[in-house]
Amino acid sequence: MSVPVAPGRWPVLGHTPALLRRRFGFTEGLHTYGDVVRVHLGTLPMYFVTTPELTHRVLVTDSASFGKGAMFDKFRPFVGDGLVNSGGAFHLRQRRLVQPAFHHERIARYTGKMETAVARLSGSWRPGERREINEDMQALAVTIVGEALFGTEFGRTAIEEARRSIPVVIRHGMVRALSPAFVGPLLVRGNRQFDRAVRRMRAVVGTVIADWRATGVDRGDLLSMLLAARDSDGEPMTDQQVYDEVVTLLSAGIETSALALAWLFHEISRHADVERRVHEEIDQVLSGRPVTADDVPKLTYLQQVINETLRMYPIWILMRRTLRPVRLGGVGLPAGTEVTISPHALHHDPHTFRDPHRFDPDRWAPERVKDIPRGAFIPFGAGNRMCVGNAFAMTEMAVTVATIASRWRLAPVPDRPLRVKYTSTAYPARLSMTVVPR
Ligand code: HEM
Repeated sequence: MSVPVAPGRWPVLGHTPALLRRRFGFTEGLHTYGDVVRVHLGTLPMYFVTTPELTHRVLVTDSASFGKGAMFDKFRPFVGDGLVNSGGAFHLRQRRLVQPAFHHERIARYTGKMETAVARLSGSWRPGERREINEDMQALAVTIVGEALFGTEFGRTAIEEARRSIPVVIRHGMVRALSPAFVGPLLVRGNRQFDRAVRRMRAVVGTVIADWRATGVDRGDLLSMLLAARDSDGEPMTDQQVYDEVVTLLSAGIETSALALAWLFHEISRHADVERRVHEEIDQVLSGRPVTADDVPKLTYLQQVINETLRMYPIWILMRRTLRPVRLGGVGLPAGTEVTISPHALHHDPHTFRDPHRFDPDRWAPERVKDIPRGAFIPFGAGNRMCVGNAFAMTEMAVTVATIASRWRLAPVPDRPLRVKYTSTAYPARLSMTVVPR
């Protein structure tokens, strides 16, 4: 069966100009051409899967036939063979070593630290003050993930470095990833910044690991767990493997949560009814005391608001590569084919989500959720590569909103409109809000 090719292809550059220019608009429209659509990244053909059913097959049912795709190769200088990038038996081993650090009871232990970090930030706000909420959420996410990883005092330099380097790496990394191979070396300034950030991060995290090894004390943080972890043969991770996992967790766990939180505050400030319901629920569940791990499942409407935020503002694309010949939607793909999924496009497909550009947390009311097909809502991916920090992130977001919204209302600043930029997702490059006591 011949595969439809997306419109807007240039000689040599392929669809890269259209992808970089139209971004989400480009991928959102692909489902109108077919269930599998060919797009050319320069001269590299990629097969976009546009239906929930085929998405579920790629990520879950047939996941053994897929490895990570071309885009991940370009992040390798930074994250090495950490969980996001590795594959096969090595990925499984590493996943088993890292996963215990994200078990339910560990997350419950991090909840207190999360609450303290948010209370510290929001406690420093003054009534009527204007805040750049995107920056506040970024700083908060660095602190929360950094403290969970490294505890507090020892990891301070690594946390500060992560704050500087991670955004640089993600932004330049995405441009590199979407550019055809011959363009890569031409991105001189971006490449230099990327390389510098990688070097700085390597030096700082290397020092922290060496300090940990020297003292050998279990500080109850994630890094202590990674260093103490043993695989089924009793083998620990090497320093390089620990380094790769640490940098991977920092890269995967900071921007993602920070962006979701910034978008969430933006959306509730524009929907008075949603804001009122969020406030009422928080007041009723917390009765004025700090939020705890036990409260999080009781904040059910807030969970709906978080889900709706993750639906509207997810990662743009996920890439895979076939490890063996695969048939997808009647299309035969040989081994080594790049296969792409757009969570953003799936989350905005009007077949699944009516009026998809409307922020409507009631889509997630229990009686309506059952109508959403498998593979249609994948903010954390799915299957064996599903986000290992999923529960951590959901708790972090609930704790942050509950702590802030129990005291403050964040109001838009009319003369400072939101500025949006696009990388691996849409992010608010400027989100100014006034903090108003409730
Ligand atoms: C709202 C916040 C977050 C979102 C939307 C998110 C999203 C995702 C997605 C979509 C994937 C799958 C990528 C793929 O299939 O190719 C993923 C994987 C991953 N995420 Fe997250 N993530 C979030 C928070 C976190 C946090 C807080 C951490 C850790 C502190 C984390 C660590 C990871 C890791 C290590 C992987 C790779 C897992 C594997 O391949 O085994 N993420 N994330």
